[in-house]
Amino acid sequence: MSTKWIAVANHKGGCGKTTTVVNLAAEFARNGLTVLVVDLDPQANASMHIGKKHPSEVPVTCAELLLSEIEKLPQAIYDDTNIEGVSLIYGSLGLGRAEDDLKDDTPRPSEELRTKLAPLEGIYDVVLIDCPPSLKLLTSNALAAATHLIIPIESGSQYGLYGVTDLLKHVNKIRRVNPRLELLGALLIKHDERQTVCKLIENAAREQLGKLIPIKIPTSTKVNQAAMAQTSLHVIDRTAKVTREFKELTQYIMNELNMKADVK
Ligand SMILES: Nc1ncnc2c1ncn2[C@@H]1O[C@H](COP(=O)(O)OP(=O)(O)OP(=O)(O)O)[C@@H](O)[C@H]1O
Ligand SMILES: [Mg+2]
Repeated sequence: MSTKWIAVANHKGGCGKTTTVVNLAAEFARNGLTVLVVDLDPQANASMHIGKKHPSEVPVTCAELLLSEIEKLPQAIYDDTNIEGVSLIYGSLGLGRAEDDLKDDTPRPSEELRTKLAPLEGIYDVVLIDCPPSLKLLTSNALAAATHLIIPIESGSQYGLYGVTDLLKHVNKIRRVNPRLELLGALLIKHDERQTVCKLIENAAREQLGKLIPIKIPTSTKVNQAAMAQTSLHVIDRTAKVTREFKELTQYIMNELNMKADVK
């Protein structure tokens, strides 16, 4: 199976990018797929959630990988994480510096991640890339490396769609270097059918983004609990509504992208 490279991006902060990456990764792995999470955010929240080490103690994170020779790749991949079956390339504060250095020192600064991760094509079934809340070079690198894009939208916030046209413009710009990039859809997060604002955001998201994922993630305190416990929603409460929706989301993506676990 060819690798599915899925970027989870939205420059709006706190809309559920990292939560989506971590719980999708866990569910893909539970379905028997080989999974790598690439943390491209200087905040390194995904790394703190699923990594066994503190990002500051990791010698080769995405930052070093982006700025070094491709030979560093094996050192950057950690198979031992808090979530079984999920490997990790850590993010770190150094990504902020790396972003500046890339701009100054590289001929095609947005294509560096794709080049560095190219040897992994066909090795993992799915690579999930967690983006920082910005539209700068790190997010461009994620979009240039990705085959698919999920845009989490906080539907419980009246500002949930703020800036989304800029994001779509940016995606179209990146398509010049990565024509294979496909929008899997907008994913509504913290969604509550009973709230008028959620309904309004849902309709506006469908209109503005064109493609809405039919699964909606509800608000749940279990999300924070899972992050605090450095584990997945499945481990915290496998039958909670929020967990079931992430499972549905995983099945939806597997169907859409024709992904099947190899029989081992
Ligand atoms: N469905 C949910 N229900 C309740 N809380 C949630 C839900 N999804 C995310 N959160 C919480 O909202 C906060 C932001 O979520 P998350 O870190 O996933 O967003 P993000 O887009 O990655 O943020 P950033 O832009 O800073 O990287 C976190 O505290 C997270 O635990
Ligand atoms: Mg995040």
